[in-house]
Amino acid sequence: MKFTFRTWESPSQVLSEKADAVVIPVLDADVGVDPVLGAIDGQLSGYLRQAISDEQFAAKATQSLSFHTQGKLGATRLTLLGASKPTGVVQSDVKLWTARAIRSLPSTAKVLTLCLRGVSAADSAAAGQSVAAGARLVTYQFDKYMSGDRKKRSALEEVIVLLPPEASTEAAAAGAQRGQIIADGVCLTRDLVNEQPTEMCPRRLAEVATDLAQRLGLGCTVLGVKECEALGMGMFLGVGRGSVEEPRFIHLTYKPATTPRKKVALIGKSVTFDSGGLSIKTTEGMLWMKMDMGGGAAVLGAISALAQLQCPDEVHVLLAAAENMPSGNSYKLGDVLRGMSGKTVEINNTDAEGRLTLADAMTYAVDKLGVDEIIDLATLTGSSMVALGSTTAALFSNNDSLATRIIDASTKTGDDLWRMPLRDRLFDSLKSDIADMKNSGDRYGGSISAALFLREFIGDKVWAHIDMAGPVHAEKDVGYTPKGASGYGAALLVELLAPRQ
Ligand code: BES
Ligand code: MN
Ligand code: ZN
Repeated sequence: MKFTFRTWESPSQVLSEKADAVVIPVLDADVGVDPVLGAIDGQLSGYLRQAISDEQFAAKATQSLSFHTQGKLGATRLTLLGASKPTGVVQSDVKLWTARAIRSLPSTAKVLTLCLRGVSAADSAAAGQSVAAGARLVTYQFDKYMSGDRKKRSALEEVIVLLPPEASTEAAAAGAQRGQIIADGVCLTRDLVNEQPTEMCPRRLAEVATDLAQRLGLGCTVLGVKECEALGMGMFLGVGRGSVEEPRFIHLTYKPATTPRKKVALIGKSVTFDSGGLSIKTTEGMLWMKMDMGGGAAVLGAISALAQLQCPDEVHVLLAAAENMPSGNSYKLGDVLRGMSGKTVEINNTDAEGRLTLADAMTYAVDKLGVDEIIDLATLTGSSMVALGSTTAALFSNNDSLATRIIDASTKTGDDLWRMPLRDRLFDSLKSDIADMKNSGDRYGGSISAALFLREFIGDKVWAHIDMAGPVHAEKDVGYTPKGASGYGAALLVELLAPRQ
């Protein structure tokens, strides 16, 4: 898709734009107040004012007004998007407007003109980034298993963005480049998560990581069972033991050209299918468990964009990839596993497997890599969804300044999250009579006790944990996210570690 940025000289310029559709986000539906709407209304001899009144279009964020222009404007269709909101033009708004604009098009439309008001010179790069990202993300389709007609992709070839005279088209175009790189990362994440689980096994995930490393010039190490045994990763290996697919420990390294600002580890939960193991899930509970590697997919999508955007930090991406299956060889309830840190864990539920895989990856980051900061993303608990719903992730951190940076980044990208407390008293439920701890605690506060379990393996490092069990997956088309894997987390990490200069 091509993106063209132009500034207008007068509001009436929109009248002559040749396109399949002109889409205008509207903050105030008063034709007398909005100069662009005024110009259009004049050209349409008062028809716009009448349509706004008849259709009760009040520019609310849920409303839109769309009609054929019958040759009276340069564009075949005109769409007004309700966009009234107290905030100004922010990244996530423009991403949403672009997505709504594209959804409003007839399937044959090739050229869309988007008229963005209120974009200053300083906003231009963000606007360009958001348009490019929004367009790519909303037109994403996972269609490799579709036959025939359903495979039809959007016909859209070009998005022309009209900006106010004070905006910078150069900055917007540079922003669009960045937006495409980030959206490509998010779409990589979506592809990995949408893939069927028999295909996207630990071995395949390691191949994907290896290819990515080769393309981007990243360091890449893949450890097999023997090597993980030598490191003492008994918790991670315990989880993978029941499957015919052998676990793989994947480590990618990105080093900036100049001395790194800091060293960061990004750890993604990578259970390629979570049947629950011997504590087996119900059919309903197991239905989406191919998505249990969504954290791993997010950190892979993130590092692919971070490398292209020349992130100033050294970034280590770690995936302890395993399949959680019941078999004669599975880890059992009552087993005691010893992880790489030396701590022992009594298993009281084989379905609380994610924390076991993550804990060994965290010890690896703490002991082997000497990183300053550790961020893990994991589809860890159903409890996080009970607490926050299915579109908001739960954020836990032992460091207020890292938590604040993550919250700020999430507001910009729209990867929704909410900070939760690491309440020490809930740790009681993880106490074991025979080992250092148990792997699962009380049903109540389950996302908190899971986070407290992880905290045992973080040493004195600055750490954040994002439980993304809900938002890994969209139950229906929403905003710029088509139904299915959302790509949650990839853009968030990019915004956090390589913000626009
Ligand atoms: N992968 C699941 C968590 C999950 C649930 C992700 C629903 C996405 C949607 C995790 O491994 C799990 O099974 N967690 C258990 C923990 C319990 C056994 C302590 C849960 O949430 O029920
Ligand atoms: Mn589980
Ligand atoms: Zn799981």
